Amino acid sequence: MATVTFDKATRIYPGSDKPAVDALDISIEDGEFLVLVGPSGCGKSTSLRMLAGLEDVNAGAIRIGDRDVTHLPPKDRDIAMVFQNYALYPHMTVADNMGFALKIAGVNKAEIRQKVEEAAKILDLTEYLDRKPKALSGGQRQRVAMGRAIVREPQVFLMDEPLSNLDAKLRVSTRTQIASLQRRLGITTVYVTHDQVEAMTMGDRVAVLKDGLLQQIDTPRNMYDKPANLFVAGFIGSPAMNLVEVPVTDGGVKFGNSVVPVDRDALAATTDKTVTVGVRPEHFDVAGAESDQGLAVTVNVVEELGADAYVYGTAKVGTESKDLVVRVNGRDVPEKGSLLHVVPRSGETHVFSTSTGARLSD
Ligand SMILES: Nc1ncnc2c1ncn2[C@@H]1O[C@H](COP(=O)(O)OP(=O)(O)OP(=O)(O)O)[C@@H](O)[C@H]1O
Ligand SMILES: [Mg+2]
Repeated sequence: MATVTFDKATRIYPGSDKPAVDALDISIEDGEFLVLVGPSGCGKSTSLRMLAGLEDVNAGAIRIGDRDVTHLPPKDRDIAMVFQNYALYPHMTVADNMGFALKIAGVNKAEIRQKVEEAAKILDLTEYLDRKPKALSGGQRQRVAMGRAIVREPQVFLMDEPLSNLDAKLRVSTRTQIASLQRRLGITTVYVTHDQVEAMTMGDRVAVLKDGLLQQIDTPRNMYDKPANLFVAGFIGSPAMNLVEVPVTDGGVKFGNSVVPVDRDALAATTDKTVTVGVRPEHFDVAGAESDQGLAVTVNVVEELGADAYVYGTAKVGTESKDLVVRVNGRDVPEKGSLLHVVPRSGETHVFSTSTGARLSD
């Protein structure tokens, strides 16, 4: 086991003048499950491949434990990688696939067999050891790919979207299996996904990337409660946080017909006349059509989930119309076309600078 450090690691692809990964600074603890998340093209795979030794590092350094591995070939880094497409050998049995790396490394047959059987037991693959990959389901193939990584007992696991080939239901159950397996084995893991729900449910910490730049690294809880900027605020959470540009007034911000008090220091931190207020769908107080509080939201669609329902509506903010999502009690849902008045719950607002995107509230 080991720590992993990205020390201002930068990758500039040949022919490009803009780094794909720009001075990435992350210190991962021994045994930690770190998730790299962000939209397509933000540099997740590039970061992982730099750690794996599959991509050059143009500036900065990468360390595993206290070893500087920046210029070591992949085979000398003591890592095991699980790819999106699993890359199993079709002509080999499950057992041979899982033991292949050990065979190459010259480990004797009996020891390989023992390690493969142990891994198969952990992954519930024992009865499939003699099958070929084509006779397995997607989820089973995924577990074989995991098994191949496990038998090597590496210092670090690297996983690049390992669940993206699975259907939605299997993805949910497999992500729980991977997370609990990782905790059991205690092997430091860097996991790449573009799915923020996967990131939030699996990671000890989550690192959000955008355009090659680290936006925030934090526990899922802190990331949700205190997004560092507008990008993270909009990216983490489903349905997404409502972000509304509103005028600054005495003692707060003007949210429709209501003045919502916000942290004084937040407003002192900007000279802008407007700020962007973030409100999660579950943080609105809702009044009916007869109220004149807050913003008037016209209900377009109601998504009923049982206990809760999400109201998708439109409100007039200043001169523009703005889409909003409001969570309401599932037993008390508004009619399509009706009017709801919503006011952000005090203490549950996030304030961002509209011009820089930076978080202003505490
Ligand atoms: N071999 C390459 N040569 C040149 N540019 C590349 C190369 N590989 C990736 N890039 C560019 O680097 C940037 C980051 O790519 P990367 O594959 O790391 O993104 P990603 O976050 O993994 O995206 P995705 O979610 O789509 O897999 C992108 O703009 C991409 O076009
Ligand atoms: Mg990728």
